This record gives sequence, structure tokens and C-alpha cells, in this order.
Amino acid sequence: MSEHKFLLHLREDHQEQKELGRKLVEAKSSEDRQKLRQQFYSALYPHMVGEEASMFKLLSEADDEEVKDDALEGLQEHHVAKIILREIMEIDTQSAIFKAKAKVLDEINRHHIEEEEEDVFGHLKKMCSEDQMDELFEKYEKAEDEVES
Ligand SMILES: [Fe+2]
Ligand SMILES: [Fe+2]
Repeated sequence: MSEHKFLLHLREDHQEQKELGRKLVEAKSSEDRQKLRQQFYSALYPHMVGEEASMFKLLSEADDEEVKDDALEGLQEHHVAKIILREIMEIDTQSAIFKAKAKVLDEINRHHIEEEEEDVFGHLKKMCSEDQMDELFEKYEKAEDEVES
């Protein structure tokens, strides 16, 4: 059976984030850095808020210790990513540490994506019925829309 459309959607977002993260690290001109940091922000920030309102909310309240620990760890990774993301949005694009911040953010996000796809998605697949997955996807999209509007 193929994966639920919610998980497929998240995987697609992850691919886009990895692509943009790599480009942001490699960007050199102010113009490219400004354009790419905005694109990366739009690809990452609403996605994180959506995940927090849906799958992480559910899993962080689970009785299973391992499930709960993985969710709390994922949320901490979002927390750290948001801090660096905000700094990248505010920093001078010609600053000497721009690339270093972009690199660290990209690395954190890649690690985070790996754990989400390997562990968190696995927990969801075990715990949720088709209807519950539909419900999580709705919550995700609602939260994401609220950020974007
Ligand atoms: Fe995430
Ligand atoms: Fe994600």
C-alpha cells in the first residue's frame, strides 16, 4: 500500500528544503542570498508550524516513552532551526558568518528530516488509522495556512 498523502506531502517539502538549503549555502551574491533565504524561509517555517500543530502535537502526548521522546527531540530541533532561520533573515547578506549560519541550519535540517522520515513517520504509521491521518493532514494545512496568510 502506498503511503498516506500527508506523509507524501511532507516528503516533497523535505526534498524542496534540502535543495534550497544547499543552494543557500552555495550562494555568494547578495541578490542570490536574499532571494534564496526568502525561498528557504517559505519552504521551512510554515512546514514546521504545520508539523507542530499536527503530528508533533499528537506524538508528544503519546503514552509510549520512545514515541514521546522522539517527538520532543524533533520539536527541539524545530526550536533551534527557528532561531538560526530568524538570524539568517536579519543578518547582512555580505556578513562573514552568513555562510556558516546557512551551513549549520542546513545540517540541522537534514539531520531532522532524516529522523522524521525514519522514526516519526514510522510512529505515525503504527499509531494512526487512515481517518486519523486525514485529520492530521487537515490540522497541518490549517496551521500552515494561518502562517502564510
Ligand atoms: Fe520537522
Ligand atoms: Fe518535516
